Amino acid sequence: MKLKITVIYGSVRSDRQGIKPSKFFINKLREREVEVHFIDPLIFPLPFLDKMFKEYNPENAPENMKKISDILTDSDGFLIVTGEYNHSIPPALKNLLDHFQREYFFKPSAIVSYSAGNYAGVRSAVHLRAVLAELGTPSISSMFPIAQVQNAFDDDGNALNDFYEKRSKRFLDEFIWYTEALKKARETGVPY
Ligand SMILES: Cc1cc2nc3c(=O)[nH]c(=O)nc-3n(C[C@H](O)[C@H](O)[C@H](O)COP(=O)(O)O)c2cc1C
Repeated sequence: MKLKITVIYGSVRSDRQGIKPSKFFINKLREREVEVHFIDPLIFPLPFLDKMFKEYNPENAPENMKKISDILTDSDGFLIVTGEYNHSIPPALKNLLDHFQREYFFKPSAIVSYSAGNYAGVRSAVHLRAVLAELGTPSISSMFPIAQVQNAFDDDGNALNDFYEKRSKRFLDEFIWYTEALKKARETGVPY
């Protein structure tokens, strides 16, 4: 069975740039025969967190929350594309992640960070790593930081520099290794 990976992006700004690296990674994963889902809070808007999904009776949960829960549950791993707002995680991304819990358990994640400047969102990536560990989806060792994101990809997500093509191979090799390994391990059971 194909591996299923969900790309999660969390900016809802009208001029958002992170949609470009999101498309780049969706394309790169599809080239590897992975089944890719995409969760974008512009496509699935959520309210600011009131109740987590698990606190609803599933029949009464808001439609988008149910759809996102189903996608996360069906996934073997999560590739999170994060910008950096005031050295931390964009609020729409954190809001989205916080609505769910069990859906992430015992599955790996990988962090792609970006920014308009030269620090490539790495301060946000470090915060995100702690959040993902708490959510039960520990992130792989490698990260994928992107400086000057506005100049790095075209609107269709094609890299404008070979550097990103080459670097993404090793990053995705590692992520897919963990995703396959934990999928096999989950098939034999989970600790709780
Ligand atoms: C509220 C806000 C805070 C920002 N803070 C930072 C920052 O701390 N570090 C940084 O490198 N860029 C910062 N930026 C610039 C972002 O890196 C840049 O706007 C990027 O395109 C944001 O991602 P998005 O376009 O996907 O929303 C900030 C942008 C916004 C809107």
